[in-house]
Amino acid sequence: MQIVHYPHPTLRHKSSPVRRVDRQLADLVREMFELMYAANGVGLAANQVALPLRLFVVNLAAKPDEGQELVFINPVLTRPKGSEESEEGCLSLPGLYGNVVRPKQVQVQAFDLRGSELNLALTGLLARVVQHECDHLDGVLFTDRMSPTGQLNVKPALDEFETVFQSQREVGEIESDEQILADHKRWQERYCEG
Ligand code: CO
Repeated sequence: MQIVHYPHPTLRHKSSPVRRVDRQLADLVREMFELMYAANGVGLAANQVALPLRLFVVNLAAKPDEGQELVFINPVLTRPKGSEESEEGCLSLPGLYGNVVRPKQVQVQAFDLRGSELNLALTGLLARVVQHECDHLDGVLFTDRMSPTGQLNVKPALDEFETVFQSQREVGEIESDEQILADHKRWQERYCEG
């Protein structure tokens, strides 16, 4: 498992709800936490490790032995309130930062790995991170939500990511679109049906 970078196709995939949790999925979630910590991140969505599943992990401390590890499966956001602008980054767009306006507060309903329901009223950084990660599950990146001026500013950096991606593909470091779609199908058959 590795963190994929823009413009990897899974980052634009609208992921499917998880219908089944097993030991392998728990192991995948553990691996996601480890990758997130290694990259000093506070959140990581399944789409960012090329898994087409509606789940993400969060730890605001960005360290394994601090803070609280949260797993959100099939999250649903409701009751957005207020509006706040703040700088965001993303492990799939390393080194790129920009301001994004989002609701200041939001309610999230989700399940954890044990099938327990989470129902949290979020504010501050956690509200922002959860909204950013939920966007990933719908194939939306924070750069999509930047102002027109902000998008213009990051355009050269996005172009550079695209150039790097193309050259990695040419040397076979990144799978073809067909292979990626076949992988998506396999994961969805395992976790999203029945
Ligand atoms: Co992100």
